[in-house]
Amino acid sequence: MLRLKEIEAWYGDRIVLNGVSLSADEGELMRIRGRSGSGKSTLLRIMSLLQKPNVGEVEVLGKSAWSISEGEREELRGKISYIPQFLELIENLTVLENVQLALEVRGIENGEDRAREALEVLGIRGFEERLPRELSGGQRQRVAIARALVSSPKILIADEPTSFLDDIASSSFYRLLEELSSSFKMGIIVSTTELNLPKRSGWREMILEKGSLREL
Ligand SMILES: Nc1ncnc2c1ncn2[C@@H]1O[C@H](COP(=O)(O)OP(=O)(O)OP(=O)(O)O)[C@@H](O)[C@H]1O
Ligand SMILES: [Mg+2]
Repeated sequence: MLRLKEIEAWYGDRIVLNGVSLSADEGELMRIRGRSGSGKSTLLRIMSLLQKPNVGEVEVLGKSAWSISEGEREELRGKISYIPQFLELIENLTVLENVQLALEVRGIENGEDRAREALEVLGIRGFEERLPRELSGGQRQRVAIARALVSSPKILIADEPTSFLDDIASSSFYRLLEELSSSFKMGIIVSTTELNLPKRSGWREMILEKGSLREL
């Protein structure tokens, strides 16, 4: 589903990724740990095709993402949903409108039923008409996931999705991801700064350290 070959990324003279290679299978669940500043967001943006690596190759669903036309790359991006570290819900749209917008930007009209369904899957029924500021941090996160899921992506990439959740909310969040992955045959990649979490069964656990990625 996703392959990285010898990725390097730097900002000015600061090298952040220094030869990252990875091959993730279809439907795989993967968690990437790393300290703050280790390059997780950089890596996840590269995986989501939002940032071009300085060196190396990114292959998504069998296509080399930076050797194809912008149009083809756009099409690939449509199969990946990326949830940024700092959630960007649109504050003057309701919860329902925020989710529906994800369909509209992809040219899908009348997505209201699908948007409602996605909100229901995420357990935020009854909040459709609220504005984002009327939600808790965890609820905002679930709206962002509903928005990411409504377009049926092949790959869901979420940057530190549990950072606003306590331990209990966080484990139910992981269970939810597992259910979503098996019902929608979707691969999931998440990052976290928590280095000492116990390994979670069914997940491939990786650590990003000193610019390289290794299996835990
Ligand atoms: N646009 C940028 N310009 C310059 N330096 C950047 C930029 N983005 C990130 N960096 C630097 O690259 C390094 C890695 O940043 P990145 O955001 O990828 O880390 P991270 O692991 O996601 O950190 P955190 O856990 O705090 O979110 C940091 O030292 C950061 O200051
Ligand atoms: Mg980050």
